[in-house]
Amino acid sequence: MLKQLEMRLASFNQHHVLRFWAELDLEQQQQLARQLERVDLELMAKLFQKTRETTDWSGLAKRANSPPSVTLANQAEPKLRREAIAVGEQALRAGKVGAILVAGGQGSRLGFEHPKGMFPIGPLSKRTLFRMLIDLLKARAAHHQTRIPLFVMTSPATDQATRLHFADELNFDLPSEDLRVFCQGTMPAVDAATGQLLLASPSELFLSPDGHGGMLQAFHESGCLNEARVRGIEYLFYCQVDNPIVQLCDPLVIGLHLRNQADVTTQAIRKSHPLQKVGNIVSVGDRLEVIEYSDLPEELAHERLPDGSLRIWAGNIAVHVFSLSFLEQAARNVTSTGSGLPFHVAKKKVPFVDEHGRLVQPATENAFKFERFIFDLLPMAKRAMVVEVDAAEGFAAVKNPDSSPTESPTTTQAAIMAQQIRWLKSAGVEVANGVRVEIHPSVAHDAETVRQHFTGSGPITKDSYFVRN
Ligand code: UD1
Repeated sequence: MLKQLEMRLASFNQHHVLRFWAELDLEQQQQLARQLERVDLELMAKLFQKTRETTDWSGLAKRANSPPSVTLANQAEPKLRREAIAVGEQALRAGKVGAILVAGGQGSRLGFEHPKGMFPIGPLSKRTLFRMLIDLLKARAAHHQTRIPLFVMTSPATDQATRLHFADELNFDLPSEDLRVFCQGTMPAVDAATGQLLLASPSELFLSPDGHGGMLQAFHESGCLNEARVRGIEYLFYCQVDNPIVQLCDPLVIGLHLRNQADVTTQAIRKSHPLQKVGNIVSVGDRLEVIEYSDLPEELAHERLPDGSLRIWAGNIAVHVFSLSFLEQAARNVTSTGSGLPFHVAKKKVPFVDEHGRLVQPATENAFKFERFIFDLLPMAKRAMVVEVDAAEGFAAVKNPDSSPTESPTTTQAAIMAQQIRWLKSAGVEVANGVRVEIHPSVAHDAETVRQHFTGSGPITKDSYFVRN
């Protein structure tokens, strides 16, 4: 077995990973051999080659237009809204909708040492991101007298801690058949100068999650995709764990998706300023693409239309509705062609074990990491649709620590409270200035249910957390 492994590695100039082999015990040797068997060395060589090519983002952005979109703003097209909501509600009631929550990222920017979903974000309740989102999902399901299965994607970095957390929380009272946790794959990192695989220890490759685009393969290989099909799911609502005000399984966006017979429907916000750190959804020819904020040249980000609005305005909030049949087709392509979603390269600092067996903490970026992005499914879709949502009503992501002025726990909590106070005020409830308010979704989970529950209530004059006893 060792001979074969040596030959395979040598033909890709990767035999250095066995340099400590003789010093390893049997278990360590088996661990390393198992890791190496799973690495597609040919793909790694191709990806390293590709790091020398540059993508002409500027050219793409110049050719790109803003995508045609439907707006969700309340006043817009009331008939279309009503009809779409009815269609979405019907799909929910018929049990055709499931939810995918991606929670495999390590939350390193936030500086939180547990999976990000465990971060306490409820402004008064301190409920975690997982609990906030699952409470919302349960409220949505109860409101439509239906069941919405939840598929949570972890990564090897978050899997164990996430499963333990769910067990501690008794799966947030979700019936066991409505919760699946599946783990995404990993990718090795390579030395930026040589393309050689990096070792995290003498018996281990350095591996990191393969990006949220790894969802497609992991969802398929874990059997979740098939399970969803067998259960009669036809639409999957996809979102990230860092956005507690996502309009989770909103019947309107699901209804629009259905009426348009779309493969993918994606929610977008109008960017608040040209350099806002969100991906840019654009249309190129008849396809949708996302250009990451870091790839969009600044002068193009600033371009304006004659009416003064941004030419490239549609910010990606990573909220998508996928038709299951489209995901199945995309997953089949992955297995039959081995190609799948493209890999993006990032140059990062990666600690590694050097030829003397010492762990080196590099001072500068020394390695390439490779990740797949879920939004690369957009250009594969024959029918893709963009639905504009007001950021205040659907996007308040936690990305950074409180020392940052944007996307921090403080800004997210402020957005949660501002939204709920707005709903209360539009239901005619007075809320005193400076008062902190949080409404548990089992009481009310959107403007309409707040109106139903609170209309006629007295003024709110002190900090209040509304929750069912
Ligand atoms: C992402 C989008 C950006 C969008 C923004 C909205 C990319 C490359 N960019 O940026 O266009 O405007 O969200 O919030 O996606 N995750 C995994 N596995 C992984 C990596 C990430 O499950 O291997 C999950 C994370 O847990 C998180 C989400 O994906 O829920 C977002 O990942 P993150 O790396 O934070 O994306 P952003 O750079 O914020």
